[in-house]
Amino acid sequence: MKKGTIKGFSKLNKRGKIKWIVENFFKDPEAVMHELVSYWHGSEEQQKVLDGFSENTISNFPMPFSVAPNFVINDQVYAIPMVIEESSVVAAAASAARYWMDRGGFKATVLSTIKVGQIHLSCLQDFSILSSWFDSNKKAILDSCCDVTANMVERGGGILGAQLLSFSEEEDYYQIRIQFETCDSMGANFINTVLETIAQTLVARHQNDFGDQSHLQIIMCILSNYTPESLVRASVSCPIHKLGKVAGLSPLQFAHRFAKAVRIAEIDPYRATTHNKGIFNGIDAVVLATGNDFRAVEACGHTYAARDGQYRSLSHCMVDETHFTFWLEIPMAIGTVGGLTKIHPIAKRSIEMLGNPSAQQLMQIITAVGLAQNFAAIRSLVTTGIQKGHMKMHLSNLLNQLKATEAEFRMAVEYFKDKVVSHKAVHDFLSILRSPDVPQEETE
Ligand code: MEV
Repeated sequence: MKKGTIKGFSKLNKRGKIKWIVENFFKDPEAVMHELVSYWHGSEEQQKVLDGFSENTISNFPMPFSVAPNFVINDQVYAIPMVIEESSVVAAAASAARYWMDRGGFKATVLSTIKVGQIHLSCLQDFSILSSWFDSNKKAILDSCCDVTANMVERGGGILGAQLLSFSEEEDYYQIRIQFETCDSMGANFINTVLETIAQTLVARHQNDFGDQSHLQIIMCILSNYTPESLVRASVSCPIHKLGKVAGLSPLQFAHRFAKAVRIAEIDPYRATTHNKGIFNGIDAVVLATGNDFRAVEACGHTYAARDGQYRSLSHCMVDETHFTFWLEIPMAIGTVGGLTKIHPIAKRSIEMLGNPSAQQLMQIITAVGLAQNFAAIRSLVTTGIQKGHMKMHLSNLLNQLKATEAEFRMAVEYFKDKVVSHKAVHDFLSILRSPDVPQEETE
């Protein structure tokens, strides 16, 4: 076996796993072992819960859990839980929330909640033959998963419809696309179980009807993370004069400059990618904090952004004679029951912090945060520039890294008010402060 490879890693206990890792991949095994163990949860019971979310766990990976207060969404006040590692994001969300709080707050509406599953199959039959067979067997095939769907149907969900599709690009390939309502759950497990159950019935019935001539094979069954009909819209709007003066710009100048920036993201994919990344700074942070699947939400949002063949901004802005309106429309599949939402100890608290919302309410909250984040980013970009806010945080991170004392912190903040912050500049500044020529009582 190659050095650094191992058989049976998963069978080792946690200490054994760490031991093997540190001995094979680190220069200072003992220190790393100690550090990794120091992040184990103090309670064995809680650690077990965390370990249950993944495999081969050796420690925990801490991320900041933050709150952005003062979000008014559909006239309700929220403190928003956010998990994110990037400085400025939470401050920006909180600042946009505070700004819109006095201007009517955020309005959000869920436009649709349909999820999608796909059974991919190969079959030598003509589409017309397979299609007419599918139509006459559809009810029986879909009914074959009654036991699996019973609970969901009782909650108001279940299967909404199914169609057989053909694709001219691929011979002998067909797809059964199924629409679902999954109520307050994201629905991934439910949809995948239904698909696999239906697929079994499909094959059995087809073989029964066509015998040796069946030639129908299931390629795969899986939900689609693209849910363009699970769509939510959040907006902010106010009379232009109410925007107030923004960084020296008149309300009208600001409104037009802002709308231009959004327009650029609508027409240029390079800018759209960064623009939408800013939206996902907010969206992902809440999706993560509430124990939802941020990869699914991201993938879906980006596909939607490219739905007409070009990647474009997910948000839009309109400035008419009197009003400024800014909105975000995005599809997403999230839940407030199932998955990690109720078993991750902090995700559970996040959901409680939000007042135990339904999945639809959570979609509205998340979208409003995405819009707030986008508003804050564009407001900075078209006025002061983004670095001003970022650099404040960056400076504080660098000072922490360089173990600055409180006095050094104060002096550095004052000194860098009108200077460019870089690791070297901060390092040099502290070196001077710490040099023996500077009276030390000033810097302690
Ligand atoms: C940085 O994480 C996000 C921004 O780049 C978003 C944007 O440019 O709109 C500031």
